[in-house]
Amino acid sequence: MATGKGFGKTILFGEHFVVYGLEGIPCALGQKTICEVEKISGEKGYELVDNRPENGDYKEKKKEEYANLITAILNHLKVEERVKITLSGDLVPASGVGASAACAAALSEAISNEFNLSLTKEQINESAYVGETAGSGTPSGIDNTAAVYGGFLVFAKNLEGGKNKIENITIEKPIEIVLINSGKAALTKEVVDDVRKLKEEKTEEINAVFEEYKQLVEDGKKALADYDIPKIAELMEKNQELLRKITVSSDLLESIIKIAKDAGAKAAKLTGTGRGGSVLCLTPGIELQESVANAARKAGYEVTLTTIG
Ligand code: MEV
Repeated sequence: MATGKGFGKTILFGEHFVVYGLEGIPCALGQKTICEVEKISGEKGYELVDNRPENGDYKEKKKEEYANLITAILNHLKVEERVKITLSGDLVPASGVGASAACAAALSEAISNEFNLSLTKEQINESAYVGETAGSGTPSGIDNTAAVYGGFLVFAKNLEGGKNKIENITIEKPIEIVLINSGKAALTKEVVDDVRKLKEEKTEEINAVFEEYKQLVEDGKKALADYDIPKIAELMEKNQELLRKITVSSDLLESIIKIAKDAGAKAAKLTGTGRGGSVLCLTPGIELQESVANAARKAGYEVTLTTIG
């Protein structure tokens, strides 16, 4: 029996825009998924035990996506034996925190260890990407990269098929954040497909939004380097405005954003796929972090308190 791990993630800037090769800024969470893989007797294939924390309808809604993800990774890594796969860890599997990518990363590493494949980080990341693609359509690779490498990154997908850009970011000191889980699972493939259709139908209008984002991410990198929290907050708000324009926000997410802002969050935006999933709140200082988390809890939402950077 062998194990592997994959970090959860949040995206500070750039969900959806990264699918089209623009830079995004993800940050891995401390919370992770652990995967155990054990060879067992029987026909080629797998048995899955999912001991990750429960979260509403997430596991049920994502069943097919996970089955596709696991099968693709087993095929990619040429596993010819039957395996028992056990998932656990402290990452609550929710949309928006890269739960499927964390699983894909953890499974790829665990298979490498169980079958002595000695995969490099890059190969584990490739394998996790294969799983993500089978599970959720045309991912950029941002989630699996954060899941495998951890840390705070600038990521850009190479649309020509070459190496993706993966660069570490360091900031002066970590910044407290709160992730509020809307409790609604989001289907990445569906939402990414809708953005693609929108881009085809309203090309000029949506391309203008993409141009605005290009400047935003440049300003974002500078604001992080300068540790300019008001500017980071302003850009997160602006990013949310652009996400609204590409129709990936929702009434539910907007109402959660309002709860966070009313409680004093410096900024709040959806993170990940959108139309469900999670809201990322910028809450520098433990006191502010606690009060925003309490407001969200009082409204009935589950929260994760952590830091970026
Ligand atoms: C999902 O966490 C991020 C998206 O941009 C999809 C992707 O990049 O693969 C929505």
